[in-house]
Amino acid sequence: MTLKIFRHFSEIATLQGAHHKDGRRLTFEDLGVLKDASIVFDHEQILWVGEDRHLPENFAQKGMQEIDVSGKVCTPEVVDSHTHLVFGGDRSLEYSMRLNGASYEEIANAGGGILNSTRGTHALSRKELLKLAHQRVKTIRSYGVGTIEIKSGYGLSFDKEYEIAHVIHDLKNIVRPEIQIFNTFMAAHAVPKEFASSYDYMKDVVLPLLDKLAEEKILDAVDIFHEQNYFTDDDVASLFERAKRWNLKVKIHADEFNDNKGAMLATKYEALSADHLLKTCDDGIKALSSSNTVATLLPGTGFFLGKPQANARALLDAGAKVAMASDFNPGSCHFDNLIFLASLAAPQYRMTQAEMWCAITLNAAHALGLKNQGALIAGLKPRFSIFNTDTLDRVTYNWGKNFAN
Ligand code: NIG
Ligand code: FE
Repeated sequence: MTLKIFRHFSEIATLQGAHHKDGRRLTFEDLGVLKDASIVFDHEQILWVGEDRHLPENFAQKGMQEIDVSGKVCTPEVVDSHTHLVFGGDRSLEYSMRLNGASYEEIANAGGGILNSTRGTHALSRKELLKLAHQRVKTIRSYGVGTIEIKSGYGLSFDKEYEIAHVIHDLKNIVRPEIQIFNTFMAAHAVPKEFASSYDYMKDVVLPLLDKLAEEKILDAVDIFHEQNYFTDDDVASLFERAKRWNLKVKIHADEFNDNKGAMLATKYEALSADHLLKTCDDGIKALSSSNTVATLLPGTGFFLGKPQANARALLDAGAKVAMASDFNPGSCHFDNLIFLASLAAPQYRMTQAEMWCAITLNAAHALGLKNQGALIAGLKPRFSIFNTDTLDRVTYNWGKNFAN
């Protein structure tokens, strides 16, 4: 087994303290920044991390692959734990309509929104969808993101949702191990017009398709848009109970437009994460903080829709595990650069530097149930991001400048 040594990073942010605190109530020290530091690993795990002057002699022997990384910074791998990147069509007109005064909900009610992208998605073949999604994944990788969650949800029919789940699965096999893809089933994204109710759509499409895909063992989790005019408490219950039967993890789009008590529902079902949370009130914040459900903030969506952002500070102060993700999708956030979003959002959320980095590494990995990454500690997976600049500070100080290796 070949050992590799990356020697002389200008800085490594290990997030060791954050890991020990399970990503909650962090202080500056929890970033664990080491200077002139090195990391030893094989293809499965990290074997040693520390200041280079402490490098054990046996690791410095000849025959190991030694790479000089001076002048660069290393962090735990940046994880985008929430994207909807398999879609066709174009919704630029809707963005302009919003600038000109229409709301997201008004556009959706008039036949735009998710159903608009569903038409664009049906216009593309499986091969075309795979090609587009692959390009999008490569772009996200170019920012230094190594693990990407992808939700289905623009097919909204049995056959097209089946196809999209397989597009994500094919992509997973194409890009591994460099990029790790997480396949989330989200046929419960909107109710197609031909169904009289969300109940009917769940019964005829979502639940039978979940059974079929779960049997094929290609899914990592399920998700649902719990929102007025989309899916109800009962729909969440039926989906999550079915997922449980298949031993699949659950996630939820919660409290995006209204306080629907989605955060509380997430904790009731021990969801991996509750995402959006723009309207979550004290009861939801309290529930999240005393649970293992990650509170995933999607600042790009608030910016893109011009809506007030989630109450990040209250979640952080209450001790919730807070992650940030891009929500890259054609309608509510047509933007895919998580590091840029984190730089932009952190001051507005009043997040500290440790909270910001933990939100896009450790806690984002935990939002996908990946407990064996997210910090640079011996024994964890060797998944890290490398930036071509010499301090951690510079990575997020230079808004929009891409330092990824
Ligand atoms: O996460 N909230 C539901 N789904 C997406 C928006 C999808 C769309 O507008 O196409 C979201 O914001
Ligand atoms: Fe989303």
